[in-house]
Amino acid sequence: MLFPFHWIFYLGASALTWTTIQALLRPSHDIVKRELGHFEGRYINILNYKLHNETVKLIGYKKIKIPLEEIDAFEDHYFTNYAELQKFDSHFYDQASMELRIYFPVAGALIEGQGSMIEANELGEFEIEDVDGDYVVFGRKQTDHVHDVHGNIIKDGVIYLAVKAHPTHQISKVFVYDF
Ligand SMILES: *[C@@H]1O[C@H](CO)[C@@H](O)[C@H](O)[C@H]1NC(C)=O
Repeated sequence: MLFPFHWIFYLGASALTWTTIQALLRPSHDIVKRELGHFEGRYINILNYKLHNETVKLIGYKKIKIPLEEIDAFEDHYFTNYAELQKFDSHFYDQASMELRIYFPVAGALIEGQGSMIEANELGEFEIEDVDGDYVVFGRKQTDHVHDVHGNIIKDGVIYLAVKAHPTHQISKVFVYDF
Protein backbone atom coordinates (compact mmCIF):
# COMPACT_ATOMS: atom_id res chain seq x y z
CA MET A 1 0.00 0.00 0.00
CA LEU A 2 1.29 3.46 -0.90
CA PHE A 3 0.66 6.28 1.52
CA PRO A 4 -0.82 9.27 -0.21
CA PHE A 5 1.71 12.08 0.06
CA HIS A 6 -0.62 14.47 1.86
CA TRP A 7 -1.12 11.94 4.69
CA ILE A 8 2.57 11.71 5.27
CA PHE A 9 2.76 15.45 5.20
CA TYR A 10 -0.10 15.66 7.67
CA LEU A 11 1.30 13.11 10.08
CA GLY A 12 4.79 14.56 9.96
CA ALA A 13 7.93 12.47 9.88
CA SER A 14 8.27 12.28 13.67
CA ALA A 15 4.73 10.89 14.09
CA LEU A 16 5.29 8.05 11.63
CA THR A 17 6.22 5.44 14.20
CA TRP A 18 5.84 1.70 13.73
CA THR A 19 2.56 1.86 15.65
CA THR A 20 1.17 4.55 13.41
CA ILE A 21 1.95 2.47 10.37
CA GLN A 22 0.36 -0.60 11.98
CA ALA A 23 -2.76 1.40 12.78
CA LEU A 24 -3.00 2.74 9.23
CA LEU A 25 -2.72 -0.81 7.97
CA ARG A 26 -5.21 -2.22 10.48
CA PRO A 27 -6.53 -5.43 8.85
CA SER A 28 -10.20 -5.90 8.07
CA HIS A 29 -12.47 -8.15 10.15
CA ASP A 30 -12.52 -10.64 7.23
CA ILE A 31 -8.75 -10.97 7.22
CA VAL A 32 -8.67 -11.38 11.01
CA LYS A 33 -11.40 -14.01 10.83
CA ARG A 34 -9.33 -16.08 8.42
CA GLU A 35 -6.21 -15.75 10.60
CA LEU A 36 -8.26 -16.67 13.65
CA GLY A 37 -9.44 -19.85 11.90
CA HIS A 38 -5.83 -20.86 11.26
CA PHE A 39 -4.88 -19.99 14.82
CA GLU A 40 -7.71 -22.10 16.32
CA GLY A 41 -6.73 -25.07 14.16
CA ARG A 42 -3.13 -24.81 15.39
CA TYR A 43 -4.28 -24.33 18.99
CA ILE A 44 -6.36 -27.53 18.87
CA ASN A 45 -3.41 -29.44 17.42
CA ILE A 46 -1.08 -28.55 20.28
CA LEU A 47 -3.49 -29.61 23.05
CA ASN A 48 -2.31 -33.26 23.08
CA TYR A 49 -5.77 -34.72 23.46
CA LYS A 50 -5.99 -38.13 25.11
CA LEU A 51 -9.16 -39.32 23.42
CA HIS A 52 -9.50 -40.00 19.72
CA ASN A 53 -10.48 -37.29 17.25
CA GLU A 54 -14.14 -38.30 16.88
CA THR A 55 -14.95 -37.56 20.54
CA VAL A 56 -16.57 -34.27 21.58
CA LYS A 57 -14.13 -31.62 22.86
CA LEU A 58 -14.60 -28.11 24.23
CA ILE A 59 -12.32 -25.09 24.04
CA GLY A 60 -13.10 -21.61 25.30
CA TYR A 61 -11.75 -18.11 25.08
CA LYS A 62 -11.95 -14.86 26.98
CA LYS A 63 -11.86 -11.58 25.07
CA ILE A 64 -9.97 -8.69 26.59
CA LYS A 65 -10.78 -5.34 25.03
CA ILE A 66 -7.72 -3.10 24.88
CA PRO A 67 -8.80 0.39 26.00
CA LEU A 68 -8.47 2.91 23.18
CA GLU A 69 -6.06 5.11 25.13
CA GLU A 70 -3.76 2.09 25.61
CA ILE A 71 -3.81 0.79 22.03
CA ASP A 72 -0.62 2.55 20.95
CA ALA A 73 1.38 1.32 23.92
CA PHE A 74 -0.11 -2.17 23.68
CA GLU A 75 0.53 -2.59 19.95
CA ASP A 76 4.01 -1.11 20.24
CA HIS A 77 4.83 -3.75 22.84
CA TYR A 78 2.98 -6.51 20.98
CA PHE A 79 4.66 -6.01 17.62
CA THR A 80 8.09 -5.27 19.09
CA ASN A 81 7.99 -8.59 20.99
CA TYR A 82 5.96 -10.45 18.39
CA ALA A 83 8.31 -13.43 17.89
CA GLU A 84 8.70 -13.95 21.63
CA LEU A 85 4.96 -13.69 22.29
CA GLN A 86 4.13 -16.24 19.59
CA LYS A 87 5.70 -18.91 21.81
CA PHE A 88 2.61 -18.63 24.01
CA ASP A 89 0.31 -20.44 21.64
CA SER A 90 -2.86 -19.77 23.57
CA HIS A 91 -3.49 -16.15 22.68
CA PHE A 92 -4.59 -14.34 19.56
CA TYR A 93 -4.66 -10.58 19.07
CA ASP A 94 -7.58 -9.42 16.94
CA GLN A 95 -6.17 -6.24 15.51
CA ALA A 96 -9.42 -5.28 13.77
CA SER A 97 -11.48 -5.38 16.99
CA MET A 98 -8.50 -4.44 19.18
CA GLU A 99 -9.18 -7.41 21.42
CA LEU A 100 -6.86 -10.01 22.87
CA ARG A 101 -8.26 -13.55 23.01
CA ILE A 102 -6.96 -16.05 25.54
CA TYR A 103 -7.79 -19.69 24.76
CA PHE A 104 -8.05 -22.65 27.14
CA PRO A 105 -9.48 -26.18 27.21
CA VAL A 106 -12.80 -26.12 29.11
CA ALA A 107 -11.53 -28.45 31.83
CA GLY A 108 -14.23 -30.19 33.86
CA ALA A 109 -17.05 -28.59 31.88
CA LEU A 110 -20.54 -29.82 32.71
CA ILE A 111 -23.03 -30.18 29.91
CA GLU A 112 -26.38 -31.86 29.57
CA GLY A 113 -26.15 -35.03 27.52
CA GLN A 114 -27.82 -38.39 27.20
CA GLY A 115 -30.42 -37.31 29.78
CA SER A 116 -27.96 -36.43 32.53
CA MET A 117 -25.08 -34.20 33.50
CA ILE A 118 -21.79 -35.21 31.90
CA GLU A 119 -18.35 -33.91 32.81
CA ALA A 120 -15.35 -33.20 30.58
CA ASN A 121 -11.87 -34.32 31.56
CA GLU A 122 -9.05 -31.86 32.33
CA LEU A 123 -8.53 -31.26 28.59
CA GLY A 124 -12.20 -30.49 27.98
CA GLU A 125 -12.86 -33.86 26.32
CA PHE A 126 -15.88 -36.14 26.59
CA GLU A 127 -15.71 -39.88 26.00
CA ILE A 128 -18.67 -39.80 23.63
CA GLU A 129 -18.86 -38.89 19.94
CA ASP A 130 -22.20 -37.07 20.02
CA VAL A 131 -24.29 -35.31 22.62
CA ASP A 132 -28.06 -35.40 22.17
CA GLY A 133 -28.40 -31.82 23.37
CA ASP A 134 -27.44 -28.26 22.51
CA TYR A 135 -23.89 -28.38 23.92
CA VAL A 136 -24.64 -25.68 26.49
CA VAL A 137 -22.06 -25.48 29.27
CA PHE A 138 -23.91 -24.74 32.51
CA GLY A 139 -21.03 -25.04 34.94
CA ARG A 140 -18.11 -27.05 36.18
CA LYS A 141 -17.30 -29.20 39.18
CA GLN A 142 -15.88 -27.26 42.10
CA THR A 143 -12.27 -28.23 42.72
CA ASP A 144 -9.81 -26.93 45.28
CA HIS A 145 -8.04 -24.76 42.75
CA VAL A 146 -11.19 -23.00 41.51
CA HIS A 147 -11.65 -19.92 43.67
CA ASP A 148 -12.55 -17.28 41.21
CA VAL A 149 -16.30 -17.12 41.02
CA HIS A 150 -17.55 -13.84 39.42
CA GLY A 151 -21.18 -13.94 40.47
CA ASN A 152 -21.58 -17.64 39.68
CA ILE A 153 -23.59 -19.82 42.05
CA ILE A 154 -21.96 -22.72 43.90
CA LYS A 155 -24.26 -25.54 44.96
CA ASP A 156 -23.57 -29.18 45.85
CA GLY A 157 -19.99 -28.97 44.59
CA VAL A 158 -20.99 -27.52 41.23
CA ILE A 159 -20.17 -24.00 40.08
CA TYR A 160 -23.10 -22.86 37.97
CA LEU A 161 -22.22 -20.17 35.43
CA ALA A 162 -24.20 -16.96 35.92
CA VAL A 163 -24.80 -17.07 32.16
CA LYS A 164 -24.89 -20.46 30.45
CA ALA A 165 -22.44 -20.68 27.55
CA HIS A 166 -23.59 -21.64 24.07
CA PRO A 167 -20.96 -22.64 21.50
CA THR A 168 -20.11 -19.82 19.07
CA HIS A 169 -18.87 -22.25 16.43
CA GLN A 170 -17.51 -25.73 15.86
CA ILE A 171 -14.30 -27.08 14.28
CA SER A 172 -15.10 -30.69 13.36
CA LYS A 173 -15.74 -32.24 16.84
CA VAL A 174 -14.36 -29.28 18.81
CA PHE A 175 -16.95 -26.82 20.16
CA VAL A 176 -15.82 -23.27 20.88
CA TYR A 177 -17.22 -21.00 23.63
CA ASP A 178 -16.91 -17.30 24.41
CA PHE A 179 -16.74 -17.05 28.22
C1 LIG B 1 -10.17 -38.26 12.47
O1 LIG B 1 -8.99 -38.78 11.89
C2 LIG B 1 -9.22 -39.58 10.74
C3 LIG B 1 -7.90 -40.18 10.31
O2 LIG B 1 -6.86 -39.23 10.31
C4 LIG B 1 -9.87 -38.73 9.65
O3 LIG B 1 -10.14 -39.49 8.50
C5 LIG B 1 -11.17 -38.13 10.19
O4 LIG B 1 -11.76 -37.26 9.23
C6 LIG B 1 -10.93 -37.38 11.48
N1 LIG B 1 -12.20 -36.97 12.06
C7 LIG B 1 -12.43 -35.74 12.52
C8 LIG B 1 -13.78 -35.48 13.09
O5 LIG B 1 -11.60 -34.84 12.49
